[in-house]
Amino acid sequence: MREVNIGAASEFTDPGRKLIGFDNFEVAVFKVGGEFFAYLNHCPHMGGPACQGKMIAKVEEVIAEDRTSKGMMFSKSKLHVVCPWHGFEFDIRTGIHPGNSKARLRKIKLAVTDGDVVITVPDAREHVPVMQEADITASP
Ligand code: FES
Repeated sequence: MREVNIGAASEFTDPGRKLIGFDNFEVAVFKVGGEFFAYLNHCPHMGGPACQGKMIAKVEEVIAEDRTSKGMMFSKSKLHVVCPWHGFEFDIRTGIHPGNSKARLRKIKLAVTDGDVVITVPDAREHVPVMQEADITASP
């Protein structure tokens, strides 16, 4: 593993992201609400570039006190990224698909040190394990 300084934290827009390419993989670093999150840019569904998709607010159903639906609205606190290949969504703060907790982006270690964002990534020769489709469809 190696640490890579990807620049000043202050240079990120919020919400925003940066994609960083390495020899055989990419890492996406997101900034949301002043916090940073990093994931391998590899969708657990079929390997698409999940972190390059649209960043949109989670759609939530509003439930009244009498337990009836009052319709759908965009969340004010949860932001998702949508894989451009088939539309799987992932919560940017957790990397987890909202409807299937087995479908999750692989987290990359991140720290903000002296104002810079530093990620810890595999060495070039290391195999980068990713979750395969069978892993997210199998029953627990
Ligand atoms: S590869 Fe991402 S949704 Fe299919």
